[in-house]
Amino acid sequence: MTDTAQLTRPDPVRRPQPFIAWANAKFFESIDWYIHRRLGARKRALFADLPPHVVELGAGAGASMRYLAPGSSLLAIEPNPHTHPALRRKAARYGIDLEIREERAESTGLASASVDAVICTLVLCTVEDQAAALAEVQRILRPGGRFVFIEHVGSGPGPIRALQRLLKRPWRYVFDGCCLDRDTAATIAGAGFADVRIEHHRLGGVFVPVWPQISGVAVA
Ligand SMILES: C[S@@+](CC[C@H](N)C(=O)[O-])C[C@H]1O[C@@H](n2cnc3c(N)ncnc32)[C@H](O)[C@@H]1O
Repeated sequence: MTDTAQLTRPDPVRRPQPFIAWANAKFFESIDWYIHRRLGARKRALFADLPPHVVELGAGAGASMRYLAPGSSLLAIEPNPHTHPALRRKAARYGIDLEIREERAESTGLASASVDAVICTLVLCTVEDQAAALAEVQRILRPGGRFVFIEHVGSGPGPIRALQRLLKRPWRYVFDGCCLDRDTAATIAGAGFADVRIEHHRLGGVFVPVWPQISGVAVA
């Protein structure tokens, strides 16, 4: 088995851990300003011309909403119910018409070819099965529909990769299933989209293990 195959192997479905899920919801709401500072310009550019109806996988505490046009409708696929109050607060603040579904990216329950755009930020690190989630994205997107993403990924050889390997298990526990070392770019590139554009960049700042990042657009 190749290194990449090992890194992208589906994880078993995790048992929900209520305190961790609650703490993560609070944490991501509290660092919203920081994520905005680090990723705001990139998100604004990526989300600039989204259609008026958007599906978001793992919407968390609503970090993407400030970049959507007021009046947009957002269908948030978010399995952690502790994040839902924050999602509603953000929707009210930014004038977004919000619907929340407590489903998973791997199985959204949405109709095939019914969606114009799917967005996803810092979520493919956590889904149990990336390949299944990306297959689901392609199933629900209309032909020509867009999947827009920003993800942290496994580093190439060097000190950050060593740090990711060292922290992998405790990080995964504390951050509710988040894997530091996934080769998400390769998984997206090989997922069968008609067109894929991926850019590699660095977040910088205090969260060194999640510095290596990718962002881009894949067209169904
Ligand atoms: C690191 S947080 C990112 C939240 C938000 N997208 C952001 O950028 O701040 C990961 C989110 O993915 C959600 N999540 C975990 N597993 C998921 C799955 N299988 N399908 C969809 N969302 C999932 C978590 O509940 C959490 O809200």
